[in-house]
Amino acid sequence: SKNPVITEYYDRTTGEWNNHVELGIWADAMIVAPATADTMAKMAHGIADNALLAVYLSARCPVFFAPAMDLDMWKHPATQRNLNQLIDVPRHHLIAPALGELASGLSGEGRMEEPEVILKQLSDFFLTIQPLKGKKALVTAGPTYEAIDPVRFIGNRSSGKMGYEIAEELSRQGAIVTLVSGPSHVKLKDLNIKKIEVESAQEMFDACMADFPSADIIVMAAAVADYKPEQLSDVKLKKKNNELPLSLVPTKDILFRMGEVKKEHQLLVGFALETNDEVEHAKEKLKKKNLDLIVLNSLRDEGAGFQVDTNKITIIDRAGKEIEFGLKSKTAVAKDLVGEIIKRIGN
Ligand code: CTP
Repeated sequence: SKNPVITEYYDRTTGEWNNHVELGIWADAMIVAPATADTMAKMAHGIADNALLAVYLSARCPVFFAPAMDLDMWKHPATQRNLNQLIDVPRHHLIAPALGELASGLSGEGRMEEPEVILKQLSDFFLTIQPLKGKKALVTAGPTYEAIDPVRFIGNRSSGKMGYEIAEELSRQGAIVTLVSGPSHVKLKDLNIKKIEVESAQEMFDACMADFPSADIIVMAAAVADYKPEQLSDVKLKKKNNELPLSLVPTKDILFRMGEVKKEHQLLVGFALETNDEVEHAKEKLKKKNLDLIVLNSLRDEGAGFQVDTNKITIIDRAGKEIEFGLKSKTAVAKDLVGEIIKRIGN
C-alpha cells in the first residue's frame, strides 16, 4: 500500500515510539483483519502485548473485526466465548467468516471474508443515515440528593435507567450526547457519551445550564427534587429527645428555566409522573414549562415508573396530540421517544 506498517511498539530503524494512543484517537474506524483466535482472545480480555492491541485499546472509533482461523479453532467454546464478548462491546462489528478452503487444507467455516466484502461492509456502515448526526443532545437522569448534614440527605427512588437508555439511543442515532446524572448505579455502555456526575438539584442546574446553549435536543428525565432543606448543617446532627422540624425550600426548576430561554432550534422534552388526572396535568406542565414534548408516566400503570425495567408512556406534543405506547422495556421506550424526537427535529 506504500503506507508505513507498524508491527512493534518501537520503530526498529529510528528507535522512535509508535504512538498507539494518538493512532487510536485519530482513526475513524479500526479494522482487524485477519482477527486470529489469539488476537480475538486478547481483545476480549484487554491484553496489550503488541502494538496492534495497544492501538485497539486506545481506539475510540468503531472497530470491525474479521475472524480468520481453522474451523475447529473457530468452533472452540473459548473462541465462541471471546467472540460473544466482543460482539457485546459497543461500536464493535463482526465481519463474520465465510465457508471455504482454509490454510490447513481443510474446508469449513473460519475463512476470512474477502477484502472486497470487508470494504463494502465498512462503506455501508458509513453511508447508513444516522438521522441525528451532528446534533447535540443533553439528557438528565437519576434522582438528586439534597443534603441535610454530611451524612444524611433527602432523595427519591429514581434509578436513572430511563435517562441512561435515552442517552444511549440518541447516541446510537448519531447525536453527540452529554448525560448529566444524579447518583445512579446504571452503567453507561456507550463510551462516546460524555457523563457529568452531580448530586444536588443545584449542581444539576449548573451542569445543565452550562451545556444547554449548545444543545439541539434536551431530554429532562431526571427526578429532580422539588425541595431541599433550608439549612445545611456542616456537622452531623446529634440525636435529641425532642422533635426535629425540617424546613424545606424550593429548588430551582431547571426545565422551567430552559423553557424561558430556549431558542427556536431547540427541542425541549420534559417528563411528568402523575397519579391522577394524568393527561390534564401533563398538558398543563407542557404549557407552563414551554416544552415541545412531554412524556407522561402514570403511577397507576403497573410496570411504569421508578425501580422497574419497564415503562408505559404517553407522549404529548404542543398541539395536544397524545401518542400512547404499550408497556415495554425501557430500552424500547427510549427508541419510541427518540423516534418521535427525530420526526420533529429539522436537519
Ligand atoms: N424538573 C426540573 N427541575 C426541577 C424539578 C423538575 O428540571 N427542579 C423537570 C424534571 O426533570 C421533569 C419535569 O421537570 O422533566 C417534571 O416536573 P415535576 O417535578 O413533575 O413538575 P412540577 O412542576 O414540580 O409539578 P408536581 O407538582 O407534579 O411535582
